[in-house]
Amino acid sequence: MSENRPLLELRNLATVFPTRRGLVQAVAGVSLVLQRGEILGVVGESGCGKSVTLLSILRLVSSPGRIASGEVLFQGCDLLKLPGEAIRRIRGKDIAMVFQDPLSTLNPAFPVGEQIGESLRIHSIVGNGWRPWPLNRTRTAEEKARVIQLMSEVGISSPMDRYHEYPHQFSGGMQQRALIAIALACEPQVLLADEPTTSLDVTIQAQILDLMRRINQERGTAILLVTHNLHLAAEFCQRIVVMYAGRIVESGTVDQVIQSPQHPYTRGLLSCIPRISTKRFHIEPIPGNVPDLADVPPGCAFNPRCSYAQPVCQEGPVPLFEVAPGQWARCLRHTDFTRQSEWTWFDRLPGAQLTPVQLQAHKEVVVQARWR
Ligand SMILES: Nc1ncnc2c1ncn2[C@@H]1O[C@H](COP(=O)(O)OP(=O)(O)OP(=O)(O)O)[C@@H](O)[C@H]1O
Ligand code: SF4
Ligand SMILES: [Mg+2]
Repeated sequence: MSENRPLLELRNLATVFPTRRGLVQAVAGVSLVLQRGEILGVVGESGCGKSVTLLSILRLVSSPGRIASGEVLFQGCDLLKLPGEAIRRIRGKDIAMVFQDPLSTLNPAFPVGEQIGESLRIHSIVGNGWRPWPLNRTRTAEEKARVIQLMSEVGISSPMDRYHEYPHQFSGGMQQRALIAIALACEPQVLLADEPTTSLDVTIQAQILDLMRRINQERGTAILLVTHNLHLAAEFCQRIVVMYAGRIVESGTVDQVIQSPQHPYTRGLLSCIPRISTKRFHIEPIPGNVPDLADVPPGCAFNPRCSYAQPVCQEGPVPLFEVAPGQWARCLRHTDFTRQSEWTWFDRLPGAQLTPVQLQAHKEVVVQARWR
């Protein structure tokens, strides 16, 4: 096995959902690379295809949705071509996922400790292998000890007592930690984390991110983090991929994407982070909404919302251009922007120097101020 080969690589992945409105192109030709030990952020507004991309990696797209084309290479092996039994062995063991909504992911009918232990049993990490509920009532002491250790590692207090508690008895933050414990049970090489902190308050958000960073540093687990929060991605990740309408519109290192964004959409996302000027907070929302993915505008999908759009932007598919070594942008006008200093907004934005926790606190102040 070549060490230079990416751990995980998506090549031109496309996933569609037939609906009454037409064919929804949730993922429309996504290509990305996740290296060993790397943290890669996938950022974009609601409905731009982030979750479906992660679900497609593990072939968990629900019917009638289907993966229309592309490759998902894990250590060089195309997961889309594996038989069902083989992909089931990889799910949870080599590639684990923290799903977007913890409460609907955890089974309300079983204690959390048993659900964490299930992953160990399915992959025969402990015990005698998997047997279906409810027959599998016997918990080995080894399994229970490992589960309690996992619960403790992810910061669930009193794990011996909590082992027997049900999901509804856990707070949102604790549920999220339980999901991370399930995902980490088999020490996966890749962790797919879909908005793992969205519904949490800023303190718990910071704790969960610290936990994931520790996992990355201590175990070398590569993390694909989906978030709608570009600033959080900038704090946590090494590289960032920006998605819009099922496509990647910009990618690069954190410094490239944050300090020198080359796509108007990335710039729009950055402008949504509150600016703390000397006199007042200032947010510039992107006008309009993400398009219906069953009816994406022709040409550049962002053109109806883009203040830089030209007639040529509506003419045909826009490719990704390499705007700097390792930085790519899907914009026909990228050469116009490359030298514009006004695009380097980071230094002008005192708020950008803050931690995500501080920034979120400022954001809440802005919201409160607006509603007063
Ligand atoms: N089961 C489904 N049937 C039809 N369309 C679907 C289905 N699941 C997702 N979609 C569509 O696919 C598109 C992408 O959805 P996805 O859940 O990936 O968005 P997202 O970027 O994760 O958004 P959010 O930030 O809100 O979680 C959306 O237009 C959504 O309506
Ligand atoms: S291609 Fe045109 S419409 Fe699309 S982002 Fe660039 S300038 Fe805007
Ligand atoms: Mg999602």
